[in-house]
Amino acid sequence: MRFVSLYQGYDRWVADYIVNSIKKAHPTEDKPFVLGLPTGGTPLPVYQHLIEAYQQGNVSFRHVTTFNMDEYIGLPPEHPQSYYHFMQENFFKHIDIKPENTHIPNGMAEDAEAEGKRYEELIASVGGIDLFFGGVGSDGHIAFNEPGSSLSSHTRIKTLTSRTLADNARFFDSIDDVPKTALTVGIQTIMDAKEVIILAKGLGKALAIHNAVEGAVNNLWPISIFQHHKHFILVCDELASTELKFKTLRYFAFTEGELNADLRDDLVCYPRGSIEN
Ligand code: PGA
Repeated sequence: MRFVSLYQGYDRWVADYIVNSIKKAHPTEDKPFVLGLPTGGTPLPVYQHLIEAYQQGNVSFRHVTTFNMDEYIGLPPEHPQSYYHFMQENFFKHIDIKPENTHIPNGMAEDAEAEGKRYEELIASVGGIDLFFGGVGSDGHIAFNEPGSSLSSHTRIKTLTSRTLADNARFFDSIDDVPKTALTVGIQTIMDAKEVIILAKGLGKALAIHNAVEGAVNNLWPISIFQHHKHFILVCDELASTELKFKTLRYFAFTEGELNADLRDDLVCYPRGSIEN
């Protein structure tokens, strides 16, 4: 695991990581770069940075294929709170991605089980996901894999917890309008990605981050499964890092500071002297 806790610049760090990953892969029409994507409040500034990178000619999404993590059940694509709508408005319409290369589970599918299977087959047909970018819920969910989700799950329907309904009520007129179920990629679907990068910001995420980094792998904190992932990067702001031990923060800050001297001033708890593990 890489854990990058920053006082500032965390959104740009993630956007730069995505841009560099796309460029390093030299994607082509036949071998596109496959990117997993989230919705919610967390990724919005990252999408802004990615749009700017595209506008400045620093990256092209022409040979990028995307798979979104989830979609509410029962919201048509044109609904302002559907994740389809969110992605068009906040990202896709501003870049040169081909619409046919963007994929979002169909929350209006008559047979949700068949839709889950179709989505998994689609991911497999492009050779799997290269980089999955996501957020984390305050209850530790990843995509809509709520606490208690099977750690080996694939795309299917999940019922949202009362915590998630309350968290997402800010996007709707009232909590009663938040759909109670969603189609979501499974935990195994994300684990199968070659790399996973999760961004967490704010005090509300601090307990989830503690469990992700210092807790035991446990289905009550789905994010903890990434301790088993070979290439997992967790990026946080200072507030999301506040439930971690000082020693943990110093250890990871030292590791990142060794990799990149320019980052040292921005790393939370970067040690000024030597450290003992
Ligand atoms: P948020 O949601 O970005 O709106 O905080 C994250 C999540 O639920 O995964």
